Amino acid sequence: MLELIEKKQRGEELTAEEIARLIAGYGTGAVPDYQMAALLMAIYFQGLSEDETTSLTSALLESGDRWELPAKFHPVLDKHSTGGVGDKTSLLMVPMLAAAGYKVPKMSGRGLAHTGGTIDKLESIPGFRAELSRNDALRQLDDIGCVIMSQSEGLVPAEKKLYALRDVTGTVSQPGLIISSILSKKLASGATHIIIDVKYGSGAFFPSQADAESFARTLVAISRNFKPEVAAAVTDMSQPLGSAVGNALEVAEVLRIAEQRDVECEVSALCIGLGGALLKMAGEVEDAEQGEDILAQTIADGRAAEKLRALVGAQGGDLDAFRREMGDLGRKTCKVAITARSGGVISGLDALAIGQFCHRQGAGRSRKGEAVNPWVGVVLHKKTGDAVAPGDLLAEAYARLDCDQRSVEEAVRSAYIIGEEAPAPRLIGTILTG
Ligand code: URA
Repeated sequence: MLELIEKKQRGEELTAEEIARLIAGYGTGAVPDYQMAALLMAIYFQGLSEDETTSLTSALLESGDRWELPAKFHPVLDKHSTGGVGDKTSLLMVPMLAAAGYKVPKMSGRGLAHTGGTIDKLESIPGFRAELSRNDALRQLDDIGCVIMSQSEGLVPAEKKLYALRDVTGTVSQPGLIISSILSKKLASGATHIIIDVKYGSGAFFPSQADAESFARTLVAISRNFKPEVAAAVTDMSQPLGSAVGNALEVAEVLRIAEQRDVECEVSALCIGLGGALLKMAGEVEDAEQGEDILAQTIADGRAAEKLRALVGAQGGDLDAFRREMGDLGRKTCKVAITARSGGVISGLDALAIGQFCHRQGAGRSRKGEAVNPWVGVVLHKKTGDAVAPGDLLAEAYARLDCDQRSVEEAVRSAYIIGEEAPAPRLIGTILTG
């Protein structure tokens, strides 16, 4: 192990056999966390070639089972995001696709650095079970068409371990590590067509659109070594997505969007856009617009909401209890209103600052395996492009009960830039298909 750490430290390429040995050893515990952390840091600085990334993807995939889903389920659709702040896309997009009649076995992760994780969000619903046996997952897929699960029952166990280690060692944002993490999970659960939402901007792991496009090209190129068809969409994460950031707050936002049949909001627009491209890639529609119409209709007629409730219920979640808990947020958190000091137009809302604020409040982890606080977060009442007058409410923070209100106010206010004009809105940029 020491030799391999030093080899990578010198910037040399690891062979497929060395990578397979490393991951197998990490899986059994023969390679301890401290050595894997040192290797991750060497990789963070020296990078991974496309060959190394492909080998790492295969080694992670090999660490567990790989599901073959029956042909009657095909096409099996999936989506994944490289991570962002307020990125609750999976919570709406998975039920939307299932409501349109497709099978979606989505394997999701927990929070990573300042970005939230779908599993942490769903676990804010009392009773929700993310760890499903293969039989339960397949039965649920047959019954209701969708599953959102964590890596249980031997699905990419080495990736789960590595993901948790990256989260607390400052090694998340290395592109090859992200690609192998995402692809190994997506390949294991049997999807035939996958869309990856590659986010750029302050709240994402890629600061610029050019970095995200280059990442997307590499991701799609590497995916050609494997069977499913993969597309990548480059989308904006310079400000948080939607209006809520924080585990339970984001679940509540998606419930509201689905139940109020809000087809127009930013979260719906992103899900519809990604879903349209996915249906086009799967050959289910002639063009993406046709796919978008099909998916928008699932929100408009309430089928997406019904499917979301069915998914949560099938995995043990109690939405009545969740709504009661949300009604009691005032006793679980310290609510702080943040108002504008000057008037103008919001010309920027720093997603990273909001994500880091939530992380510090306990929405994310600083140590492996730590419990997160499901209730903390921020509700954004003003976003980029909105006009504000002095004293207007910008946001409400739900901070830890022992918080210092003034520093909460300052941290959230500092994310807002109030100027004279706003940048042109942009949500979805380039879409690359394999
Ligand atoms: N999502 C993942 O599953 N893995 C990463 O490394 C980043 C985002």
